[in-house]
Amino acid sequence: MKAALLGFGVVGGGVYTMLQEHPGWEVAYVLDKREFPELGEKLVHSIDTIVNDPAVDVVVEMMGGTKPAFDFVAAALKAGKHVVTSNKALIAAYYNELTALARENGVALRCTAAVGGGIPWLTSLERACSVDTIESISGIMNGTTNYILDVMTREGKEFAGVLKNAQELGYAEADPTADIDGWDIRRKLVISSNIAYGISIQEEDIPMSGIRGITAEDIAAFTEAGLVCRMIASSARTAEGISATVEPMLLPKGAPEAAVPLNYNRISYVGERLGIQAFFGQGAGRYPTAANCVRDCLDIEAGKRSFYADKAVPTTIRNEGSLRRYYVRANDAAAFADVAESKLGCGIVTRAIPVPEMYARAEKCSFFAALREE
Ligand SMILES: NC(=O)c1ccc[n+]([C@@H]2O[C@H](COP(=O)([O-])OP(=O)(O)OC[C@H]3O[C@@H](n4cnc5c(N)ncnc54)[C@H](OP(=O)(O)O)[C@@H]3O)[C@@H](O)[C@H]2O)c1
Repeated sequence: MKAALLGFGVVGGGVYTMLQEHPGWEVAYVLDKREFPELGEKLVHSIDTIVNDPAVDVVVEMMGGTKPAFDFVAAALKAGKHVVTSNKALIAAYYNELTALARENGVALRCTAAVGGGIPWLTSLERACSVDTIESISGIMNGTTNYILDVMTREGKEFAGVLKNAQELGYAEADPTADIDGWDIRRKLVISSNIAYGISIQEEDIPMSGIRGITAEDIAAFTEAGLVCRMIASSARTAEGISATVEPMLLPKGAPEAAVPLNYNRISYVGERLGIQAFFGQGAGRYPTAANCVRDCLDIEAGKRSFYADKAVPTTIRNEGSLRRYYVRANDAAAFADVAESKLGCGIVTRAIPVPEMYARAEKCSFFAALREE
């Protein structure tokens, strides 16, 4: 099998090494903006070289972003190449277009590394969906925010110092916005929910709040109350339709997610008959992520052609029936006077309110987190 890699960065470098070592596989081309003398004639700068070569079987996209990734991947699919990608931004934004292009051209589109890095989450979800109805999915889908919250909880440190430390360790980007404000997690929730429920939802439809405003004082109050804060992405079938949120949650300290250390991920689904199945592991990093890309390539070699879900019914998120209590540290306390139930640390805890009601007041908060009742 001949592969062409788009992007020779953290993940691309790992896939290059692993595929080259795999019997029966050859990396024919690597496309990147930069020069890499060690790649010799394999390095190319034009997608045309790849799509016009009939010998290329699989294109593995690991450049990131949506432009020009969408154009390159679309061109590859139209040229009859199978595509593997680790790019969650691309799949979340162009879910319908890319799955349709793959179907029309009779080729495979696989993106297991896009959610959970090295965890075989999407492939497990796909297998579960083939025998059961998924009722909900939930979990820690971002290592950066888990690292920050875990270290803040264990060491009592302030957010800014722990973020800096995470950047030095390579767990956080120089611009941490996508991680700490929830964008990265929301894309992963879109892809997971689409597959779990056979739907197609829009990123901006899912309410999202991050951990930028959390303080050591908040965490001390949570610890005192026996609670642990984690960034949780969740979606579920409800009486109204599909609910979904990306937000910090306060979990009882005995909850399995509360024990997830450092930059690890833990994602679970609940099936109507299967019950809960949970997946724990490295959600990022060169070789864990590359391994999922390579497994996708091997699945294609073995004849896998279908996408993870065969339906993509356009769906609007409905959160109005989801009631939660929230910890709120408000910059305008009066804005929460009507729903405040008790005090916690420097903030208040609301009575159970519909999720949209909380997000309508989000701008009046320095930080807020949902309380998950066990
Ligand atoms: N790193 C992880 O642990 C991880 C885990 C799961 C998923 N992912 C996803 O995998 C993808 C790649 O991540 P990464 O960490 O490997 O990123 P990265 O280290 O920045 O690598 C991307 C590579 O692609 C190149 N590139 C970007 N745009 C290009 C273009 N228009 N034409 C040619 N080359 C281009 C970049 O060149 P420049 O550096 O010159 O821009 C860089 O060499 C992203 O979608 C990311 O979300 C990453």
